[in-house]
Amino acid sequence: MNHDIKDINLAKKGALRIEWAGNNMPVLGLIVKRFSKEKPLKGLKIAACLHVTTETANLVSALKAAGAEVYLCASNPLSTQDDVAAALVKDLKVPCFAIKGEDNKTYYKHIKAVLALEPDITMDDGADLVSVIHKERKFFPLGGTEETTTGVIRLRAMQKEGVLKYPIIAVNDAQTKYLFDNRYGTGQSTVDGIIRATNKLLAGCNFVVCGYGYCGKGVAMRARGMAAKVIVAEIDPLHALEATMDGYDVMPIKDASRIGDVFVTTTGNTSVIRREHFLLMKSGAILANAGHFNVEIYIPALEKLSRKKKRIREFVDEYVLANGRKIYLLGEGRLINLAAAEGHPAQVMDMSFANQALSAEYITKHHKELKNHVYAVPEDIDKNIARLKLKSMGIRIDTLTAEQRKYLSSWELGT
Ligand SMILES: NC(=O)c1ccc[n+]([C@@H]2O[C@H](COP(=O)([O-])OP(=O)(O)OC[C@H]3O[C@@H](n4cnc5c(N)ncnc54)[C@H](O)[C@@H]3O)[C@@H](O)[C@H]2O)c1
Repeated sequence: MNHDIKDINLAKKGALRIEWAGNNMPVLGLIVKRFSKEKPLKGLKIAACLHVTTETANLVSALKAAGAEVYLCASNPLSTQDDVAAALVKDLKVPCFAIKGEDNKTYYKHIKAVLALEPDITMDDGADLVSVIHKERKFFPLGGTEETTTGVIRLRAMQKEGVLKYPIIAVNDAQTKYLFDNRYGTGQSTVDGIIRATNKLLAGCNFVVCGYGYCGKGVAMRARGMAAKVIVAEIDPLHALEATMDGYDVMPIKDASRIGDVFVTTTGNTSVIRREHFLLMKSGAILANAGHFNVEIYIPALEKLSRKKKRIREFVDEYVLANGRKIYLLGEGRLINLAAAEGHPAQVMDMSFANQALSAEYITKHHKELKNHVYAVPEDIDKNIARLKLKSMGIRIDTLTAEQRKYLSSWELGT
């Protein structure tokens, strides 16, 4: 079987960690049970470009249980868990192409390796498979799914320009995805990544969050929980107002640059922290990114401003600026929660990947009706995942009475 991973001997450790994650993914577990019986993806080829983590391994198992053939590569050069890649190859017999720390050339070689399958369905996290398929134009799958905000933005741009050649389900936009994964998942794991990389005390420090979207809200919330003084930088007036009323200091990134101890970007945008900001920063400032691509902190300017650079700890690069100040960049500006920690906890990926699995099934059943557009996850799938998740947590909720249902659908009754 074709594959390219770091070390097959890591498989035993990976298998145990995959089992641990699986124990915390009850909704996906229920889907696996049904998929094993019904085989809804029988004979289908799926190419997945996702972070190669323990949770992804459980998703791949679910797709295989449904009868699909799955090839997997990494959606970021620093997010692969090498022991998981080994277990995928050895135990699950999945052609996996992913090595933590791979260079750009290898990253794209791995993408091409999974596309050699000529998949019926693509599963992306950042739209790299879709992008390469459209550039090469050798074949177009029946449909695809997209895991993250940045990927959905890229795909909507393609739809707008009329160049998207097959339908995509925007898994990111399911409420059971972004409300939990982006917020609680990114929140906890980003703070986890910063702590694992630096072992710094967050209590009392000025912690700057750039971008108060779903990821930013989660990071700010968890940093405050660690007793950091959180500052938010935004460009959207509503999100800035929301941050203010959530009790954070809001100011332009330029002002925050002078006082911040830790900076985290979660915008999905480019060059959010750049030359003019590096020059204002205190010596010792720590920079991390949790947005999808490594462009939010403009690293070329940091390189140019620096007279010395060294790796002082794993995932921590010390830049000494010409003005003598030291700035610390974590995880080469790549998703810090995946580079220095383990990514999102399984409990939230349970819902994100339930959406992935059910969206793949939906594409299989409905691809003939779909246009070459970006579609939302159908509402019944989204609601059902929420219901199953609550059930798995032993939480019961109320249901509408007949009178309430009637009241909510009528307009005559007033004061
Ligand atoms: N680290 C992870 O595991 C993880 C998980 C989910 C999403 N993501 C990625 O994180 C990024 C953010 O995702 P999201 O769902 O929070 O998006 P979002 O659209 O909800 O939020 C982005 C926020 O950034 C703000 N923003 C844009 N440009 C800015 C600028 N120059 N300065 C300050 N604020 C700016 C926007 O106004 C918005 O409020 C995306 O790239 C997404 O793909 C990462």
